Amino acid sequence: MRVGILGSGLMGGKLGTIFARAGHEVVFSYARNMEKLHELARNAGKNARVGTPREAAQEADAVLLAVHWSRLDDVLSQAGDVSGKVIVTCSLPMNEDNTELVVAHTSSGAEQLEKRIPKARVVAAFNTVPSEVLFGVYERKRKAGRPSLVYCGDDEGANGVAAELIEAAGFDPVNAGPLRIARYTEPFALLVAQLAYEGAGGPELAYRFERFKK
Ligand SMILES: NC(=O)c1ccc[n+]([C@@H]2O[C@H](COP(=O)([O-])OP(=O)(O)OC[C@H]3O[C@@H](n4cnc5c(N)ncnc54)[C@H](OP(=O)(O)O)[C@@H]3O)[C@@H](O)[C@H]2O)c1
Repeated sequence: MRVGILGSGLMGGKLGTIFARAGHEVVFSYARNMEKLHELARNAGKNARVGTPREAAQEADAVLLAVHWSRLDDVLSQAGDVSGKVIVTCSLPMNEDNTELVVAHTSSGAEQLEKRIPKARVVAAFNTVPSEVLFGVYERKRKAGRPSLVYCGDDEGANGVAAELIEAAGFDPVNAGPLRIARYTEPFALLVAQLAYEGAGGPELAYRFERFKK
């Protein structure tokens, strides 16, 4: 599928590279330095190129939104009309210094985003793992015991698109339900970040849910 990357930093840069290597057509956009975008596209291979946020969004079957919360309005205004588009967001509603969620409990960043672009089909995914683990998971893709990755969204078709990208990246997609479940997944992402960045063992951390049956 064609995947537009809005925000080509730690998350967008790595996920875009992974999607391109997995065979999807990727357009990197939205960084302060065009040369960085070109280098990303070169490293990601023949399926990747650079575009404006508008090109990345308008030509895409799925858009990955991977910007800091404070850049949301700016990137969306540059992307143009996203009505009907599948928007997979890994963006967490963090304050400027990334220490706290600024939306939580009675709403979530994903729900606020859906209110901002009500005609788009928003799915929250990839927000619960640190960028440092992404290449490692992708490299182990064909091995047993894939890590889980929770996602949630209100549109069945969009959820299917997100699940396809999650699988392409080497994770086992776990449908957590409607978009309001992002009220749980977003704080969970902070738990994973706490373990990744403050715990022993380094940030290459993913998680796996197991069901135990008798
Ligand atoms: N990093 C993680 O492990 C992680 C995990 C889960 C969720 N998240 C969430 O994912 C989202 C993206 O995180 P990230 O770590 O990938 O952020 P990041 O590395 O800072 O990437 C953000 C991208 O936005 C671009 N950008 C920022 N300000 C801009 C501006 N004024 N004009 C144009 N481009 C601008 C950056 O450009 P430059 O490339 O020029 O800096 C970069 O490409 C955030 O909402 C974060 O909370 C991150």
